[in-house]
Amino acid sequence: MRILSIETSCDDTAITIFEVKGGVQNATFKILAHNSNSQINVHIPYGGVFPALAKREHEKNLPILLDACLKQAKLDKFKPTGKKKIVDAIMVTYGPGLEMSLWTGIVFAKDLAKKWNVPLVPTNHMEGHVLSVFGKDKGTFKISKLKGPILSLLVSGGHTQLVLTKKWMDYEIIGETLDDAVGEAFDKVARMMDLPYPGGPQISKLAENIRVVGKQDLKGLRRPTGRVLSKNSAEFYADPSKLGFPISLPRPMLHTKDFNFSFSGLKTSVLYLIRDLKKSGVEIDDKIKAQIALEFENAAIECLTHKTKKVIEKYKIKTLIISGGVAANKHLRNEIQKIAKENKIKLMFPTPYLCSDNSIMIGIAGYLNYIKNKKKVPKPENIKATGNLRLGK
Ligand code: KG4
Ligand code: ZN
Repeated sequence: MRILSIETSCDDTAITIFEVKGGVQNATFKILAHNSNSQINVHIPYGGVFPALAKREHEKNLPILLDACLKQAKLDKFKPTGKKKIVDAIMVTYGPGLEMSLWTGIVFAKDLAKKWNVPLVPTNHMEGHVLSVFGKDKGTFKISKLKGPILSLLVSGGHTQLVLTKKWMDYEIIGETLDDAVGEAFDKVARMMDLPYPGGPQISKLAENIRVVGKQDLKGLRRPTGRVLSKNSAEFYADPSKLGFPISLPRPMLHTKDFNFSFSGLKTSVLYLIRDLKKSGVEIDDKIKAQIALEFENAAIECLTHKTKKVIEKYKIKTLIISGGVAANKHLRNEIQKIAKENKIKLMFPTPYLCSDNSIMIGIAGYLNYIKNKKKVPKPENIKATGNLRLGK
C-alpha cells in the first residue's frame, strides 16, 4: 500500500510518501518522495522555537511540501478510479510537541484524508523516534526483529526518557527527566555563552575541539604539580595546552537509585559559573567557552550513560536504541558504544539525518500501528493535538 506521513510537532515541517508492505516485524518501506523544511533560521533571533511563528511556517510550507512530494512520487496527475486511491492512509503526528505546531499538521492531514477519502492514523512522535533506527533518508529499508528486552534512550529538545520494551511495540517509561530535557539544557547553556540556536551542535563542536581522544593521550596527563588527573575531571578530558583554568560542574542525580535525570541544576551551575567569572574580571572568550562546553557536555552525557548502564544491568537488556536530536552528539555516541561493548549488547542509532524530527519515522510508527491495530483508526474528529502525550500505558 501507499502511505503519506506528516510531521509538524516542533519546528520541522516534513512530508514523506512511501510504498509499504509486510507486518510489524518485517515491514519494508520504499520512499517514493520526501521533502522537509527546517525553521531554524526563522527562530534564531528568538534563541528558541517561537510557537506562533512555527505555526505560521508550518501552514505556509505544508502545501508546498505536499506538491513537491506528489510530483516526486509521480502522483501529481493521479486520477482515483474505483478502489485505487492516491494513497491508502495518512499518518500524522498528534503528540507530544507544541500544540500550536501539532494542530497545523493535524488540520492539514484531516482535510487531505477527507478529500482523498482515506483513513487518518494518529501517530506518537516518541514512538517515531524509537523506530527511526530502522529508517533511511532515501531508498528502501526494512524492519527487522530485535532481541529483547529493548531499552530506548530518547534524548531531544523536549524529552529525556528511558523506555523499556519487553514485548515488541509495548513501551514503559522507566526513567525520565524531572525538569529540563537534555537538549534543552544544551540549548540554554549555549545561549548563556551567546552561541546560536540550536545550541547542542555548537556546544559539542566547541567541546570536541579540546577533547583529548584516545586512551594513549590520556595516560600521561598530569597537573603542572605532577599529580595525575582524576578521571572525570574536565582536565582529564581536555588538551591541557588549550585550558584556561580547571572547572568542574555537578552531575545531578548520578547516584540516585531510580533511573530519572535532572538537568536544571547543571544548567544553573553554568549560569553561576559564568556570572562569577565575569565578576572576577575573566573574559568569556572562545577558550573559556570551549572549556565550559567540554565540562558541561561531560557532565550531561555522564548522567545519561550512567543511568542507561544501570538499566542495562538491572533488566538484562539485549538491544539498546539511542535516538532523538541529542543522539547526534559524538561524545554520547562514543561513551554509549563503550557500554554496549562491555555488556555485549546490540546498539542502534538512527542515521544522522533521522536523529532530528522527520516524517520518515512518523511513516514507520504510523504504518506499524495501523497494521498492529488491524487498520482500525479513530474518527478524524476525535484526533486532537496532545502536547503531553506519553509513550506506553
Ligand atoms: O529531536 P529534535 O530534533 O527535536 C525535538 O523533538 O526536540 O532534537 C533537537 C535537540 C536540540 O535541543 C538540539 O540542541 C539537540 O537536539 N542536538 C544536540 C546535538 N544535535 C542536536 N545536542 C547535543 N549534541 C548534538 N550534536
Ligand atoms: Zn523529536
